Amino acid sequence: MPDTHPDTTPHTAAGPSEGLPATTRLWHLVSRPQGTPTADDFALVEAPLAPPAEGEVLVANTHLSVDPYMRGRMNDTKSYVPPFALCEPLEGGTVGVVVASRASDVIVGSTVQHMAGWREHAVLPAAQVRVLDTDAAPAPAYLGALGMPGLTAYVGLTAIAGLTEGDTVFVSGAAGAVGSLAGQLARKLGAARVIGSAGSPEKVAWLVDELGYDAAFDYHDGPVAQQLRDLTREDPVDVYFDNVGGDHLEAAIGAMADHGRLALCGAISTYDATEAAPGPRNLMLAVARRLTLRGFIVSDHGHLAGEFHRTVGPWLTSGEVRYRETVVEGIDRMVEAFLGLGTGANTGKMLVAV
Ligand SMILES: NC(=O)c1ccc[n+]([C@@H]2O[C@H](COP(=O)([O-])OP(=O)(O)OC[C@H]3O[C@@H](n4cnc5c(N)ncnc54)[C@H](OP(=O)(O)O)[C@@H]3O)[C@@H](O)[C@H]2O)c1
Repeated sequence: MPDTHPDTTPHTAAGPSEGLPATTRLWHLVSRPQGTPTADDFALVEAPLAPPAEGEVLVANTHLSVDPYMRGRMNDTKSYVPPFALCEPLEGGTVGVVVASRASDVIVGSTVQHMAGWREHAVLPAAQVRVLDTDAAPAPAYLGALGMPGLTAYVGLTAIAGLTEGDTVFVSGAAGAVGSLAGQLARKLGAARVIGSAGSPEKVAWLVDELGYDAAFDYHDGPVAQQLRDLTREDPVDVYFDNVGGDHLEAAIGAMADHGRLALCGAISTYDATEAAPGPRNLMLAVARRLTLRGFIVSDHGHLAGEFHRTVGPWLTSGEVRYRETVVEGIDRMVEAFLGLGTGANTGKMLVAV
């Protein structure tokens, strides 16, 4: 879907000094959170806005993504992405509009996606932005349903869990960005029964009434293992899409069918833990039931992005697969939006509108 403009004329129209602010605001991480992050771990900083150099573009960001993986980058530990540096601009998925360009292949007015998020404006090499086709989908969708979270749902179900026709699928965190897509895509890809868990009655109703889940439960209503067992006693789970970890993972292991597959996507219930979370106490069932538990990181599966767009793009356009965004207004509320991921403040993808 990317729409790159093969225009090679020089773009001198909007220089950075013409009507653009001399400064911009951006977020720093100023201390490494211990447990749940607090507002004091972050600072909104005003910085000079440099004009783009040769080969660079200046982007006015319109929507900034907050994602659970960012919590891991706030720790000073080795992982699949490096930690955020203290007192440097934070990063994350973003869409915006090019307001000045010294790159012949990205013209002023283009809507672009890039990783210089948590800030109002970004100056970056044109090679680091991807021009978006906003006729195909609104720009914010490229941060959610049509972007990394949507691809994560698709990869987890297909490449990792090997979803097959007739499977019973359980998705935790089912009303979030990844989960809300995972349940619907499972159905479209042939699942016979789809079950979800989420954190409020409103989210449970959304899953069942609008997204087509066969059943869903609020994990606050009682032990997850008991609620899941009640729903799967006659029909055990073939595929578990794990966004939550902890008690959800243990409950799912207990509800799996023989030869069941568990796609370990995330474990948000453990991200703020200050000590190692206990493992599932029933792991021996993985032996007895010949289960496959497989973790994955979506960025290892970029080669599936084209297939994902071709398959899922039309379903999103037609409304066969639905998505929702929770949009927090104002860059000054970015930390509130990020912390809201841990309290379930979002339904669907959490975004900040600049
Ligand atoms: N492996 C990968 O490549 C990859 C890529 C993207 C995302 N992920 C993972 O996928 C998961 C979902 O990410 P997302 O971007 O779609 O976020 P999200 O689900 O849109 O937002 C997080 C949601 O997690 C739920 N939650 C928070 N604390 C919880 C807890 N203690 N127990 C149960 N639920 C809790 C909240 O919903 P409730 O109201 O339902 O509690 C919240 O809305 C995360 O674990 C993330 O790390 C992995």
